[in-house]
Amino acid sequence: MIQESHIESTLKEMFANLKFTAEPAGLYDPLRYMIEIGGKRIRPRLCLTAYALFKEEFTEEILSPAAALEVFHSFTLIHDDIMDKADVRRGVPTVYRKWDENTAILSGDVMSIESYRMIAKAPAKTVPAVLELFSTTAAQVCEGQQYDMDFEDLVQVPMDDYLKMIGLKTAVLIACSAKMGALIAGASDNEADLLYKFGYDLGLAFQIADDWLDTYGDPKVFGKAIGGDIVNNKKSWLLTRALEKAGTGALEEAMAMPVGTDEEKEAKIEAVKKIYDSLQVGEEALQEIQRFHRQALGYAEQLNLGKLRYEMLHRYADMLLGRRK
Ligand code: IPE
Ligand code: IPE
Ligand code: MG
Ligand code: MG
Ligand code: MG
Repeated sequence: MIQESHIESTLKEMFANLKFTAEPAGLYDPLRYMIEIGGKRIRPRLCLTAYALFKEEFTEEILSPAAALEVFHSFTLIHDDIMDKADVRRGVPTVYRKWDENTAILSGDVMSIESYRMIAKAPAKTVPAVLELFSTTAAQVCEGQQYDMDFEDLVQVPMDDYLKMIGLKTAVLIACSAKMGALIAGASDNEADLLYKFGYDLGLAFQIADDWLDTYGDPKVFGKAIGGDIVNNKKSWLLTRALEKAGTGALEEAMAMPVGTDEEKEAKIEAVKKIYDSLQVGEEALQEIQRFHRQALGYAEQLNLGKLRYEMLHRYADMLLGRRK
């Protein structure tokens, strides 16, 4: 059975060997910048992990599609940072801040195209299903991102709508990563669907954790500015739950605070955080993350692949649960 240490070294090699067209530099430098800095690479890792449940070795048929998931994800981050007015990501300036918005838009576009080229290297007989899955997922991410922006302008959003939004913007790509590994490995439809559900619930937990870290994380470890969600009136899990518990009142007032200067941003972050603390929504978020984590593991159990394989999925889930960045 393929071990995690092998998955780890395969990932390292995979990104060290990724080469992109050189010119024009303005188009491809941001792409290399994002891939070289590298994030946690949880999506290709999950794809390889799912594949490893059914196969005894990695071949090119899985490496290219797995890497494509990271290229696509990195593209969404470049555009997301424009939309969220974020200055720092992975501990370094965001692409639109280091270069400019037009560069970020176009480099993102070419990354999205590149990801399709890489996906298409899946084994020929799996390509129709894999491309359909990937295209559906990519469109859903855009839908989620649109809801995310629409929600900034709403005072309050029902928790169900919040969950649907993060399901689209974040969970489906993680679910797709797991299912793609299974499809390429030739798993049954039932196995592929269970892995999709496993990834989906982990994805929900992952985004709620991201929302928690945006307020309560350690900025040095997190690699992104703390409080960005509060500044933008993002309907994060924390804000959605706080509004559900306390109604608009004081929160609506805090949400309307000015954010023109750094001092104003700090004051708004402090004011909202104080309300979160008094309502203990931070603690509740952590419980919710645990709940989705357990739910995900339920699907992993239903796979019935034996103890060793279940434990590998369990360790993957625990790694996500323990995220501090
Ligand atoms: C950030 O994704 C966007 C979310 C879905 C929360 P990651 O937290 O996986 O970002 P990197 O790739 O590790 O930087
Ligand atoms: C990101 O959500 C989802 C996608 C990029 C599709 P966030 O906006 O919360 O991600 P971060 O916090 O900027 O990484
Ligand atoms: Mg965003
Ligand atoms: Mg963002
Ligand atoms: Mg976030």
